[in-house]
Amino acid sequence: MSIASQATDRVIIFDTTLRDGEQSPGATLNVEEKLAIAHQLALLGVDIIEAGFAVASPGDFQAVKTIAQQVGTADGPIICSLARATRQDIQAAAEALKPAAHPRIHTMISTSDIHLQYQLKKSRSEVLAIAQEMVAYAKSFVDDVEFSPMDASRTEPEFLYQVLDKAIAAGATTINIPDTVGYCTPKEIGNLIQGIRQNVANIDRVVLSIHTQNDLGLATANALAALENGVRQVECTINGIGERAGNAALEEIVMALQVRKHYFNPYFGRPVDADAPLTNIKTQEIYKTSSLVSQLTGMLIQPNKAIVGANAFAHESGIHQDGIIKHRQTYEIMEAASIGLPENRIVLGKHSGRNAFRTRLKELGFELNEADLNKAFNRFKEVADKKKDISDWDLEAIVRDETQNQVESGFQLEHVQVICGDCTCPTATITVVTPDGKILTDASVGTGPVDAVYQAINRLVKLPNQLIEFSVQSVTGGIDALGTVTIRLAYQDKIFSGQASDTDIVVAAAYAHLNALNRLYRYLQTQRIPVQVGE
Ligand code: KIV
Repeated sequence: MSIASQATDRVIIFDTTLRDGEQSPGATLNVEEKLAIAHQLALLGVDIIEAGFAVASPGDFQAVKTIAQQVGTADGPIICSLARATRQDIQAAAEALKPAAHPRIHTMISTSDIHLQYQLKKSRSEVLAIAQEMVAYAKSFVDDVEFSPMDASRTEPEFLYQVLDKAIAAGATTINIPDTVGYCTPKEIGNLIQGIRQNVANIDRVVLSIHTQNDLGLATANALAALENGVRQVECTINGIGERAGNAALEEIVMALQVRKHYFNPYFGRPVDADAPLTNIKTQEIYKTSSLVSQLTGMLIQPNKAIVGANAFAHESGIHQDGIIKHRQTYEIMEAASIGLPENRIVLGKHSGRNAFRTRLKELGFELNEADLNKAFNRFKEVADKKKDISDWDLEAIVRDETQNQVESGFQLEHVQVICGDCTCPTATITVVTPDGKILTDASVGTGPVDAVYQAINRLVKLPNQLIEFSVQSVTGGIDALGTVTIRLAYQDKIFSGQASDTDIVVAAAYAHLNALNRLYRYLQTQRIPVQVGE
């Protein structure tokens, strides 16, 4: 049964974190990182994963193919690749998607006059013909074809209807309406969808989808307005990341539909008080997915971000706290547990054994293999020696550091030592092991201890880079808290991020810097750019 016939009374979640999300400046992900996110998206229960833009680069092609192979299983989600409306793009998408049990090609062409005139330099009749021909071409490879008229919301409606007619006639199974530049208001989006439903003859034969950008901060509101007007698929990203100001955030859409189910039910032909969820998302996986995406992309989540921000469930004002103590729902419309946010419970300490450690990780949803468990346990013991109580949040940071930041080949930090103070020139001594096993030591001074660490690491690693962002966040409260350092560095027009946690933020900074450099190093290797390291 196709997804179109399965899902008229619920929302199909199309996740584009790995395609549009990865278009966020600096959010470059490598194949393994994309695969880790894709596995988590499958656990989260998304219906479709847009795994990339296969023709864009060999790395993108490989990512789509690997995700198609390993996540796109018979009982897994649909795996999709974006393709411009050209034969070359569609062939690349079809080839990369071959291993997927449920492949989808998403092809698109601009339809607004401003794009036609200045970007495509094509007439309307040319675009009409291309849309029809390329949807038919995509259809010769896969049954499931999505078509997007780019900049639909600024397209003259009569022309938009004609393009959609042609795309449906050529075999499109999903029609996606992008508000590409985030220009519309919710009411306008509603009218746009109504217009399409009334004027495109066979629109009821396909799934109607919406893609909203967040340039005016309206992406989630616009997506919800589209749903109220008959759309059944929403394109969104974790943490709302994406091109410019980003996309509609998956967690916001899903939780709005969950918390306000009784409001939305009638739009889906359900009784007001029907209890079944409106999406297939396992909301308890939201927090974990959000943290993983933030860590691997290096894109921090603003503290007041809806649903997943650090303050989303924190109550500061005395009046609010008083209300919460008396009756939780006075100031809370959803429970932290519903998105899988671990309580800041103190669970372990330095006397806790391996079994307790493994059990708690399992309860938090981390299933580690023996090797990763050993690494994480050793690290836990080191942290527990310095920090009396280890909370769930600390455990998470430890596991992330040990399992997601480690690289098979790359530079390893062996030793970091810093001297600093008010009458001392900050000096760092660093020892690293190079990818070919050499142990190198060097020292540098800097404006402060972190700068000295960076200079010393750069002297050793010798990969050209410019530090563009450095931030520290405390994992928990308290003077002995773990600090998580996130850094972003630039190499030409590419940005690479690194993250690490430690009770000593200078040590965390050293690890974070090396993580980012290892990403740069692997990128240079995949691009076959010669690197002379550590000489
Ligand atoms: O913003 C946009 O128009 C897109 C389309 C490819 C859906 O990303």
